[in-house]
This record gives sequence, C-alpha cells and structure tokens, in this order.
Amino acid sequence: MIIYENVTKKYNDVTVVDNLNLTINEGEFVVFIGPSGCGKTTSLKMINRLIKMNSGSIYLDGKNINEMDAVEMRRNIGYVIQQIALFPNMTIGENISVVPKLLKWSKEKRNRRAKELLEMVGMPYRENINKYPNELSGGQQQRIGVLRALAAEPPVILMDEPFGALDPMTRENLQDELKVLQKKLKKTIIFVTHDMDEAVKLADKIVFMKDGRILQAASPEEMLRNPADPMIANFMGKLSYTVSGDDLTCKDVMKRRVLTVSEEKKMLESVELMKQRELDSAVVIGEEDNKYRGVVTIEKLAKEGKPGQSIKHLVDPKVPSVRTSTNAKEAFELLIASKYNYIVVLNRDSTVAGIITRTSMTKALASVIWGGEES
Ligand SMILES: Nc1ncnc2c1ncn2[C@@H]1O[C@H](COP(=O)(O)OP(=O)(O)OP(=O)(O)O)[C@@H](O)[C@H]1O
Ligand SMILES: [Mg+2]
Repeated sequence: MIIYENVTKKYNDVTVVDNLNLTINEGEFVVFIGPSGCGKTTSLKMINRLIKMNSGSIYLDGKNINEMDAVEMRRNIGYVIQQIALFPNMTIGENISVVPKLLKWSKEKRNRRAKELLEMVGMPYRENINKYPNELSGGQQQRIGVLRALAAEPPVILMDEPFGALDPMTRENLQDELKVLQKKLKKTIIFVTHDMDEAVKLADKIVFMKDGRILQAASPEEMLRNPADPMIANFMGKLSYTVSGDDLTCKDVMKRRVLTVSEEKKMLESVELMKQRELDSAVVIGEEDNKYRGVVTIEKLAKEGKPGQSIKHLVDPKVPSVRTSTNAKEAFELLIASKYNYIVVLNRDSTVAGIITRTSMTKALASVIWGGEES
C-alpha cells in the first residue's frame, strides 16, 4: 500500500504538487491523468525519491520512504520511463537482468527469470536473449523495458507514459499484456498517461490532476458517470468511442486484439498459445484465405483433441458473427441471446476484425449513456 500524506513539491516559489493526499491499495492499478504540467511525473518520481518533496510524507507498506535505504527501494519499486532507455551495448538478456544482478541473483536464476518473462510476452527466449536492442522493433524494445521493470518481481511498478511513442495497434497489444500481467502477478501499478482511452482501459482507479491537485480520484465507471469537473468531462468526451448510441457500430465497440489460429495448427500448439494469453478460446481462420471458420475452446481441445492432430475438426462454426458495420445494438441483442461469451466481428472479406465481449460492449455503452450526458 502506498499513502501520500499532505505531499507538497515546490520549485522556487511555484507549487507544482499541492498537498497531495492519496491511498493506493496493494494490487491496485492506478492511472494518473491530466493536462501537461499538472504534476503527474513529479508525483510519480517522489515515490522512488527521484524527486524530493518539500513537505509531507509517502509511506510504502507503512514505512516512510525517506527512511528506507536505496537498495531496498530498488528492490521494491520497478520504474519504466517514457523514452525506454535500454542499454544499447547490453544484450536483451543483460538488459532484463540489470536489477537481478544488482541483487546478486545467480546466473542460473537470472536466466530462468529472463526466459519466463520473455515467454510471458510472446517473445521466444532463444531467438531474443542474445540480440541487442537495435535489432528489435520499437514495440519489442518497449516490451523489454516493461520486463526489465518486472524482473526482480517488485511489488510496486511506476510507469510514466510507457506506451506514448507507439502506434495504436502495438499500444493496444501492450496494454492488454500489461493488464494480464498485473492481474496475474498482483502488482501495484501507478501509470501516467495523457490518454483517457488508455486510462479507462487499464485503471482500477483514475486520479485526475490539475495544477498539482487531485480533481477527482475514482473508478473509470464512476468518473464516466459523474465527472467532478468540466475539464474531466471534456477529457472523457474525447474517448474515441463516444459517439451517439444509435450511430455506434461493431467497429466502435469491438476488442481488436484477438487470438486467431489457423485451422491447420496442431492441438498442442493451439493450447499453448491460449495458455500464454490466459484465454480459454481462440478464433479459428483458414490457413490460406484467413477467413473466419469458427471458435475452439481449450476445454474441447483438452477433452477431444489428439496431440499431433490439427484443430480443424474441433472448431465450433456456430459462434455468431457480425460485420464491422453492423449496428452495435443489433450485435448486443445477438450477444445477449447467445450462449457464447462473445461474438466475432468480420471485415467485408470475412477475415476477423475483432470480437465483442460482454465487457467491451458494456464499457462502450456505458460511456455513451453516461459520458454523453455532458454534451
Ligand atoms: N526541475 C524543475 N524545475 C522547475 N520546474 C519544474 C521542474 N520539473 C518540473 N517542473 C514544473 O513542474 C510542473 C509539473 O511537472 P511534471 O513533469 O510533474 O508535469 P506532468 O504532469 O508530468 O506533465 P507532462 O504531461 O507534460 O509530462 C510543471 O509546471 C513543470 O514545468
Ligand atoms: Mg510527465
């Protein structure tokens, strides 16, 4: 648990963080958001003492951070900055192991950990461990930056606009991965962003700051329903899926990140892919044409699949599908009436565009119903 108690930071005579009081619970995903210069980064960096406060206290699990020593801090708090700075002349393995090495973990333990982490984000160990940062794509480098912060298993991770410079697709993928990791590893994460979409997607609690003060700290739903300030409503209003309810199409409410597997994929590989992403099913597509075939569940594969065999004959073709242009309300009714957990959204050429789950639908509708009141 992290507690800010009357925390104030001044530069010369200017107060940039003004009597901040905030409690962050263990395992909570908290997102700081607000206009540029409102004090997000400063508030973050005061936790790991990269910036010294003028008055007030911050407690980490009951201990005043000013009384902890630096090594203890490093062990307990992972940190990811916006411009991921991997060490260019260290390999990926060495980059990930920086803190474990500081903590004098054995080589074997460090390698085991690096392997585990790389596999968690779908980057094969052998292929990547000896590469240098410049041999990876921007998105992959960003992943390594996140892994490096996780490596020594710190209970708390601070992330300052870690996905800022990425294209929307990579960004969405990493957000999904981070959320899964956080749930799985039960980490406390404090995450800074400018992007309300990102905040709503990731946060258990959004902390909206302005001029060094908290305007509102609330769950995304609560903030959507009752924005405490016109500025918050305005930020909310920019959510990309906030359009009038009637105009909403499946494209607006679908989740783009879907695990698709070819119908020729072998049973074991398919199960492995689903496990890695903690999914209990996958959308199946044709090997040649990439067109939608149906859905396989991990349960069915486990019960009826044979290791060396392809998953083709275990595909359930009856999971409902809609088009990206289908009206969202129609899709919603279809989803409610169906016994499946989601419906599949197809492009015009019957390739897979996304899925609509009950959660993605509810979230999108909620923002229209509640967020829309303001405008
Ligand atoms: N070293 C410094 N000296 C003087 N003023 C500073 C210093 N660092 C930050 N500030 C000021 O403190 C305020 C808060 O800065 P901070 O970096 O926390 O903002 P931020 O909310 O993270 O903004 P952004 O979204 O642009 O990253 C700003 O007005 C900034 O100009
Ligand atoms: Mg900042």
